[in-house]
Amino acid sequence: MARENLSKIAYKTLQQGKSIAGLAHKEISSRIMNFILPDSELSEFNLDKNLLIKIQNSMDTLRDEDWTDAEKNIYPMKLLFDEPWLRYLTQYPKIWFDMPNIWNRRRKEQYDDLPKSIDKDNYPKYYLRNFHHQTDGYLSDFSASIYDLQVDILFNGSADAMRRRIIKPLKEGLINFSDRKKSSIKIVDVATGSGRTLKQLRYAFPEEKIKGIDLSGSYLKEASRYLSDIDGDLIELIKGNAEELPFENNSIQAITCVYLFHELPRTIREKVLKEFFRVLERKGTLVIADSIQITDSPDFIEIMENFYKTFHEPFYCDYIKDDMNYKIKEIGFNKVKSNSFFMTKVWSAIK
Ligand SMILES: C[S@@+](CC[C@H](N)C(=O)[O-])C[C@H]1O[C@@H](n2cnc3c(N)ncnc32)[C@H](O)[C@@H]1O
Repeated sequence: MARENLSKIAYKTLQQGKSIAGLAHKEISSRIMNFILPDSELSEFNLDKNLLIKIQNSMDTLRDEDWTDAEKNIYPMKLLFDEPWLRYLTQYPKIWFDMPNIWNRRRKEQYDDLPKSIDKDNYPKYYLRNFHHQTDGYLSDFSASIYDLQVDILFNGSADAMRRRIIKPLKEGLINFSDRKKSSIKIVDVATGSGRTLKQLRYAFPEEKIKGIDLSGSYLKEASRYLSDIDGDLIELIKGNAEELPFENNSIQAITCVYLFHELPRTIREKVLKEFFRVLERKGTLVIADSIQITDSPDFIEIMENFYKTFHEPFYCDYIKDDMNYKIKEIGFNKVKSNSFFMTKVWSAIK
């Protein structure tokens, strides 16, 4: 019991430390930016005290949820302490080195500053941009090499705790196939990025077949490096488009998708949901995690608005008002549920 309490204190302390580090980084970098580019007309966002308290409470609830799920063995406790410190150590200087480029792009409102070497015909138009003003968009090894830490800083160190919110509904949904051998169950993580969700999934589902798919070859290479020394069976990485998944009709038992939908235009969101429906087997599970939305997180409207004003996120303003529950049901999914945790909303549904 005492050991358990100590572990919980250690977990909370680790998360609080990450949160302070993330906030400190954002404060220092925005001060430097305002000093260097005083005329940049970039919105200055000051959190008022009440909002800060709400953010703090919401992060505490997320951590409690994370701890409880691990305690209930929904995923191994070790995931809560799994931080790639060495990786972060190499990523952090690169983030500082890259910052002036990001500020410049923001100031000039330059959104199509992509590597010359890419073949634009291979990607959808909405994808060919510098989301978040990030260097090379999603289309270079450099971008892939710093993405993880950028996201963790953005979410004050709680990105993985939010990603793990998909695991419980996924486990509940996969009960529909509990009469089958686990090794025959296929879980596909769509828009998998640099592999963070895949690692959480591999530890929570050690026997199932896990595949990750993404449009960016560079991000998949990064995922391959990140996942190369984890325990368990190999994870398959596939370069492909969420709009046209390389799977047969009714062939997949579960699909997860983390932080993709806010980067898609409305019509493509629908197309991708239909594609998920097509490849899922009957009784298969869909679990989506993405940004919170206005209807269920009105307290955080200011944060959502600031997000699309500060970062280049052209589809976000529409996304936060999009009735995804309705869309998911309309396509044919049943048992549609949604729940918000700090800055992330999770939907689950059954085909
Ligand atoms: C915000 S990142 C999220 C990555 C990852 N799921 C995570 O949790 O960090 C969005 C990812 O979606 C990928 N992506 C965007 N549009 C896509 C599409 N149409 N098909 C497949 N992947 C796509 C990008 O390459 C990028 O890796």
